[in-house]
Amino acid sequence: MQTVTLGLDLGTSGVKALAVTPQGTCIAITYASYPVLTPRPGWTEQNPGAWVKACLTVLQQLVQAVDGYSIEALGLSGQMHGMVPLDADGYVVRPAMLWNDQRTADIIPKIHRCVNRQVLIDRTGNPAITGFQLPKILWMQHHEPQAFARTKRVLLPKDYIGYVLTGQQVTEPSDASGVGCLNLRTRQWDADILSAVNLPARLLPPIVGSSAIIGYLKSTIAEYTGLPEGLPIITGGGDNAAAAIGLGISGAQPERGSLSIGSSGVIFAPVAEPIPDPNGSVHLFCHVDGSYHLLGVTLAAGDSLRWYRETLATHYTYPELMELAALSPPGSQGILFLPHLAGERSPYLDPQARGTWVNLALAHQQSDLIRSILEGVAYSLRAVFSVMQPIANVQTLVATGGGTQSAIWRHILADVLEVPLILPTQANGAAYGAALLAMVGAQIHPDLSTCLQALKRSEQTIAPQPQPSYVEGFYSSERLYATLREFRKLNEHQKDFQYH
Ligand code: XUL
Repeated sequence: MQTVTLGLDLGTSGVKALAVTPQGTCIAITYASYPVLTPRPGWTEQNPGAWVKACLTVLQQLVQAVDGYSIEALGLSGQMHGMVPLDADGYVVRPAMLWNDQRTADIIPKIHRCVNRQVLIDRTGNPAITGFQLPKILWMQHHEPQAFARTKRVLLPKDYIGYVLTGQQVTEPSDASGVGCLNLRTRQWDADILSAVNLPARLLPPIVGSSAIIGYLKSTIAEYTGLPEGLPIITGGGDNAAAAIGLGISGAQPERGSLSIGSSGVIFAPVAEPIPDPNGSVHLFCHVDGSYHLLGVTLAAGDSLRWYRETLATHYTYPELMELAALSPPGSQGILFLPHLAGERSPYLDPQARGTWVNLALAHQQSDLIRSILEGVAYSLRAVFSVMQPIANVQTLVATGGGTQSAIWRHILADVLEVPLILPTQANGAAYGAALLAMVGAQIHPDLSTCLQALKRSEQTIAPQPQPSYVEGFYSSERLYATLREFRKLNEHQKDFQYH
């Protein structure tokens, strides 16, 4: 009987589960969605009960789809940074607050008053950031003291699923480093930081390895899903780290990073040592293989194009928009677009930043506007990449996500970033990486590097063709951002002129 391991990715819009053979072939995928709740502007929550229901559904469907295979283990991955508070009996105290929840803005300066910002960056790889879990716990302590008093343990989203499946409460370094108080060198919670912010260390779960066995599947869940009782459940990784390992990106090959264009744009660069950007303008987290990685996020990448299509070009399909963009020359005839439609994370950490077009003239066509969006996203990612490169040593980027399906966009990205892009034939995201970690956890492969070597990969490379107009466009867009930041300051006093 052929063996498979399963991987699960608890995403923001839904959960994906898949089954992978020891040679790396994905043989079945299942998916179920759940809503994001926005009880107030800037707040994002999800009901962990809805996650559990969706997870059990996708697992049940997957078991049916892999009938005839022997299931050896299940690995977990998911959205990072979320907060799931549990009471003494393991019940959820309040809905989970998600990675993109912005309510903790007033907690950030408080954390920096307790722990010097630079010390926090040196120890944890990052300054305090609104989306991270630690500010959420402190927000609950401050604003919902009764819920806080009932809370005996706080878990990250995928670790909550691990708890439901096995009864064990643990986490692993890749996801734990997005909480905001993990010491990157020891890969354990930093007791000094926890005591400085006055939080008891017992609130956070023990940390084990990313391919460790959390525990074994409970009989009730085995019965419901059809999975084997006692199936080993593997900790896995945060979604970015799990997706990267699925693409073969590890600390063993620091010259290979990844670039993904989905709703947001993400650059992932593996590094051997935990050396943070001194300004904390890109994240530094633990990787699932014992190394580390830098992570930079352009918040509205695919979302910038989606916004354009939904507001200004509803009658065009995405392929038609790309055909139009190809009619405009590199540099979009002088138009510059800043993609900060949702504020910006890296490298500016500026939630108030906003998007813009400049240099419009009567001669410009729709094709120039569209191309300027593709280029503006690429400039933003170049800004991220140039902060990373003095620390990392990335020579090629594996390109994934919907945006890189477009030939023109991926050429623009390669040319603007001046780096070869590799197109993988198989990119199944974080769930795939979780299934690989499960192979190591179940000892199907003795370690991660043997596992990665066993996978059949075929890839195509796109060589960059640097263009002077892109170099000029990149520096102009950096100046434009700085100018607009000043413009915002000048207008701050005007009550009738408000940014939302
Ligand atoms: C990473 C991040 C997102 C979430 C949601 O820092 O905030 O990628 O993990 O997927």
